[in-house]
Amino acid sequence: MNRRVQVVIIGAGPSGLLLGQLLHRSGIGAVILERQTPDYVLGRIRAGVLEQGTVDLLNRAGVGARCAAEGLVHSGVELAFDGRRQRVDLKHLSGGKTVTVYGQTEVTRDLMEARTASGCETVYGARDVAVHDFDGISPRVTYTHDGQGYEITCDVIAGCDGFHGVSRASVPERSITTVERVYPFGWLGVLADVPPVSDELIYANHPNGFALCSMRSRSRSRFYIQCERDERVENWSDDRFFDALRTRLDKSAAEALVTGPSLEKSIAPLRSFVAEPMRFGRLFLVGDAAHIVPPTGAKGLNLAVSDVHYLHESLCGYFNDADPAALDTYSQRALARIWKAVRFSWWMTSMMHRFPDNGAFGQRIQEAELDYLTGSEAAGRSMAENYVGLPF
Ligand code: FAD
Ligand code: PHB
Repeated sequence: MNRRVQVVIIGAGPSGLLLGQLLHRSGIGAVILERQTPDYVLGRIRAGVLEQGTVDLLNRAGVGARCAAEGLVHSGVELAFDGRRQRVDLKHLSGGKTVTVYGQTEVTRDLMEARTASGCETVYGARDVAVHDFDGISPRVTYTHDGQGYEITCDVIAGCDGFHGVSRASVPERSITTVERVYPFGWLGVLADVPPVSDELIYANHPNGFALCSMRSRSRSRFYIQCERDERVENWSDDRFFDALRTRLDKSAAEALVTGPSLEKSIAPLRSFVAEPMRFGRLFLVGDAAHIVPPTGAKGLNLAVSDVHYLHESLCGYFNDADPAALDTYSQRALARIWKAVRFSWWMTSMMHRFPDNGAFGQRIQEAELDYLTGSEAAGRSMAENYVGLPF
């Protein structure tokens, strides 16, 4: 079965769904192909912190109402180290900007509902997705669904299919450069229906390793602790997890920690990864398909959203203003912002974690960095500007 659309989007994670929504509102036709089921996509517990620019774009896309009603606006974060806890006043230091705590699951749900309401097509359970002829002006995407083969001819393919997707893997090796840093640890995360430890997120640097107290709402918390890269979830009972977390917090946070049965428990390895460029003829990489950052700076989802913004602008120029050169600017604009977020995420990761080969020198440098950051307005401004998100 053959047909033609303007854009084929591979992947119905946040980047694919948001791109589909923006294109729909700009009158550009797109089909989304997703390997998993909607429930599977919604079951992945991931990001929780939205930059102001992300919230603004969700509003412009017409999907921001629930985030505005239910999201928690945070004007600061707390850093725990050396037995004390210091607040970084993001709002004051960034000239009035804030972040919003609203789970990636909820963003995805809002986008799924908008897509259903718009009547645009998403094929869930699409198998064997393959991209063809993206060097020319008439690329094709083939897939199977319920045992039947399909082919879609299009003008543009948007690879929004995450780190393990087919899009980046289909680019010839000679055309792509990848840069990677793998960190010698992972994050063990727990979701639980218990009230947050504090009104704001607590990032902790402790001799036993990093810890983070985050949240999804006033009654649901998300916690992380640094763990071995090859650690197994089965080795961590809820009690063991909460004991380890409590030890890594300052005294008052440890006392405020309420524990409860985990709703979800998972381990994420930490890496920085960038693929360049992000355009190969008529194939464009978006979000985690092109880059991964360690979650310490809360940047991954937000970067996917800024990529979508740049690609949407390029596609509007191409389809609606008949400007073929509009496609040329995407990769460069997106990468300029991505590398700054890669730097920030690497910096926060380096400052907050225990590294096996850090030694006494590395240790003292971390302590000095945290002391400087929380004692100097100039240093605080730099962190705040990046944490709330650079403009796009
Ligand atoms: P994905 O969400 O990976 O979506 C890709 C989609 O493509 C998936 O649905 C997948 O099933 C589909 N797909 C893959 N291959 C194929 C194929 N061959 N055919 C069809 N479909 C395919 N980011 C933040 O900004 N803030 C945070 O606080 C934060 N915390 C995080 C915590 C953890 C533990 C983790 C793991 C990540 C975190 N992130 C955070 C990162 C964030 O979750 C990702 O950057 C975000 O999901 C990227 O969205 P995406 O749509 O590009 O990719
Ligand atoms: C989360 O709530 O999942 C979260 C928050 C902040 C981070 C990473 C993850 O830096």
